[in-house]
Amino acid sequence: MTLDEQLQSYSFYHVIEVAPGVFTRGYRQLMGTQRPVLDAIRSLPLAGKRVLDIGCRDGLFCFEAERQGAEEIIGIDNDLSPAAVEFLIPHFKSKVRMHALNIMDLAPEQFGKFDLVIFAGVLYHLRYPFQALKQIRDVLRDGATLIIETGMYTLHEDQALLWCPTGTEGPYEPTSVTFFNIKGLTDTLRTFGITVQSHSYLDNHSIPHDRCTLICQFHEAKIDEELRRYWDGQHKLHTDAAEGPRVLATWGLVLNAER
Ligand SMILES: C[S@@+](CC[C@H](N)C(=O)[O-])C[C@H]1O[C@@H](n2cnc3c(N)ncnc32)[C@H](O)[C@@H]1O
Repeated sequence: MTLDEQLQSYSFYHVIEVAPGVFTRGYRQLMGTQRPVLDAIRSLPLAGKRVLDIGCRDGLFCFEAERQGAEEIIGIDNDLSPAAVEFLIPHFKSKVRMHALNIMDLAPEQFGKFDLVIFAGVLYHLRYPFQALKQIRDVLRDGATLIIETGMYTLHEDQALLWCPTGTEGPYEPTSVTFFNIKGLTDTLRTFGITVQSHSYLDNHSIPHDRCTLICQFHEAKIDEELRRYWDGQHKLHTDAAEGPRVLATWGLVLNAER
């Protein structure tokens, strides 16, 4: 089969150069949204690093991480791209590995932990965003970088908000249901030990929503372990006589004091 015949036989999401001047027929209108993520990947020292791309589609970001010298690149997508697995990876003789996996089922036991996680164009599609961010935290190495690209709510930024429209009330199609504002996402990430180092809007902070790319850093020491245990359902506050009163007192609660 010629290259052109191969290109015709798959449907593509990403526009990827497969030979000088020859590109996959993906959605050109999305290239502007993808550019800040590509720029962020290019800005990182990736030699010898492990990279995970969540919602990798045809692998645009995986292949870029490979070009930047990453040692190991894994892409996951719950709806794996045949174009990437059957055509692009063999065509590039790439070491990128792609797996069909829902982010909700992601765990460090499968692929270990990563130096860079790319999470682009997925968060706003998720119905269980906090759980997804927890799954991501669990696969970040201490000191790892997280790149998030997502649709954001751009109003009421003095409050930590999550706008969760359904049906036709959302700004995109009906699968798009999760739009944090910048304070909402920044504060939520902080509770996972993830600090937003920079963020940039695509369309000059258009109202009431805009696309945004965030560069974040994970540090285990920044996790509040007592809150983490509570949120992960691993606490013993109500049964452990030593732990309960101490933790509740730390939180300003003295419920057990008079018992
Ligand atoms: C809008 S595309 C974005 C593709 C690419 N990350 C980008 O930014 O160009 C969203 C991708 O995430 C995948 N996806 C959506 N929900 C997912 C989930 N729960 N787990 C894993 N992948 C998911 C979709 O199948 C799709 O390939």
